[in-house]
Amino acid sequence: MIVRVPGLLSQEQLAAARALLADAPWGDGRATAGYQSAKVKTNLQLPEDCEESVKLRDIVLTALERNPLFIAAALPARVFPPLFNRYEPGMNFGAHVDNAVRQIANTPRRIRTDISASLYLNPPEDYDGGELIVEDTYGSHNVKLPAGDMILYPATSLHRVTPITRGARIASFFWVQSMVKDDGERTILFDLESEEGLGRRHPGSHDRLELEALEFHQKVRRGYLELAQKDPDRWRVIDAAKPLTVVQAAFCRVLSEKLAINLDEVSV
Ligand code: NI
Repeated sequence: MIVRVPGLLSQEQLAAARALLADAPWGDGRATAGYQSAKVKTNLQLPEDCEESVKLRDIVLTALERNPLFIAAALPARVFPPLFNRYEPGMNFGAHVDNAVRQIANTPRRIRTDISASLYLNPPEDYDGGELIVEDTYGSHNVKLPAGDMILYPATSLHRVTPITRGARIASFFWVQSMVKDDGERTILFDLESEEGLGRRHPGSHDRLELEALEFHQKVRRGYLELAQKDPDRWRVIDAAKPLTVVQAAFCRVLSEKLAINLDEVSV
C-alpha cells in the first residue's frame, strides 16, 4: 500500500512550519537510527525536545487528526510523534527497512511501525536529487511531492533517499501503528468512473500514472474490481461517486462491521 495524501498541510500551516524551521537547531540524523540504518544515513535532524520540534509536531498532529484520507488509509491506532529532517548537498539515506518497533523518547511507550510516513515541507523546486525510492511488490516507486503533501508506505518495504545535488530537502517523518497490522487486510476500494476520477485530479503537476489516457484508467479500474470480486474477504468496495459524507459513512460502516472496531478508540 502506497498512498499519497495531497495537501495534508494548509498554506497557513505550511507557512507556520517553515517559519519554525528557518532557525531550527539541526543536529546529526543518526541519533534516531537503528544500528544497521545508522551506517547508511547522513542527514540532519531536529532534536526531539527542542521548542521548534514541539510546535512543529503539534501542527502535523492537528492536520492528521482532521484528514479523512489519512484515517481511511492508515486506520491509525497510534502515531509516533513526528520527527523532522533536512538533507543538504551530498547527504542521503541508503536502502534500509525501518525498525519494527519504536520507543517514544522519554516514555515507556512503544509503537509497532506498520506504516512509514513522509510529509514534504518544502517544494521540489528547492532541490535536486532527494527522491524517496520505495520498493514494494509492484516495483520501485519514485516519490518527490509538493510541499504539504504526504506519502504513506509500508514500513517493511526497502526504501532510500537519493543524494541531494542542490538545495535542501526538508520533511517530517514518522510511523503509524495501524489498527490492522497486515497491509493486505487494509484494502478498501473507493470505486469511481474513470472520467470522474480524472476530473478530480488535483490542480498542478501530475505524475506519470495520472497523465495516462482514459482507456488506461478504465482498464485499471476493471482490474481492481475483478480483484475485489475474487477476494471479497479482503476487499471492500465503496461507491466514491456519492457525496463525501455518504462515502465517509460507508467507510465507517466497513470499519465497524468488518473489523469490529470501536471508532471512539481511534486517535492520533
Ligand atoms: Ni526509513
